[in-house]
Amino acid sequence: MGSDSRDSQVDQETLCLLQRYITQQMELGYKEVYFSSPFPPPKPEDSSRCRLEEFYERIKDCQRCPLAKSRKNLVFGEGNPQAEIIFVGEAPGGDEDRLGRPFVGRAGQLLTKMLGAIDLTREDIYIANILKCRPPGNRDPLPSEVALCRPYLDQQIEIIDPLVICALGRIAAQTLLDTRRSLGELRGFLHPFRSRRLLVTYHPAALLRNPHLKRPAWEDLKLLCTQLERG
Ligand code: URA
Repeated sequence: MGSDSRDSQVDQETLCLLQRYITQQMELGYKEVYFSSPFPPPKPEDSSRCRLEEFYERIKDCQRCPLAKSRKNLVFGEGNPQAEIIFVGEAPGGDEDRLGRPFVGRAGQLLTKMLGAIDLTREDIYIANILKCRPPGNRDPLPSEVALCRPYLDQQIEIIDPLVICALGRIAAQTLLDTRRSLGELRGFLHPFRSRRLLVTYHPAALLRNPHLKRPAWEDLKLLCTQLERG
């Protein structure tokens, strides 16, 4: 009741202002009056953030594959909704499953450091995985799981609309590029990927196991930087 009377009071005030405005315009000799929406158009960032949030709400209870039964959390992805780069890993591990966030374990900490080396933070980029749910014992994703989950990643890429995608490791690279070629064959250059570019590099977990891979990974990151608008 109280809010109804407040609403009608606002309406009265608005009508009064409108009347006064129209009278003034007529006095000034105008024959037509133009109105624009009182709400500014949404900024592109707000719009991709909203679209990602809506998309998360739609899929957060996904039951498409048996991983839904064993997961603690679906790991949607996180970062800048308008990122120029999306990093794509394989699938959540134990830490990610527990926290519902991508790359938060040891490999994730190394990824954060690698980003720092090229002057980026996790807030600048977007991070997601091929699979949204953890395979038991961190086994490789099954082709059936990839086929069911892949459209989710495709939708995220469509919303964020990045310039470049960085595939972390063999599984992400082979899945995104739809190939059986080895990681060694796929890294070191940019692949066309729909209307974008895709770069393949080592998974940070591989760098933790084999520090000799850090130098070529650094070369990959430098190549990645050349693709960003900031240069
Ligand atoms: N490894 C991945 O591929 N993704 C994660 O989110 C964590 C570890």
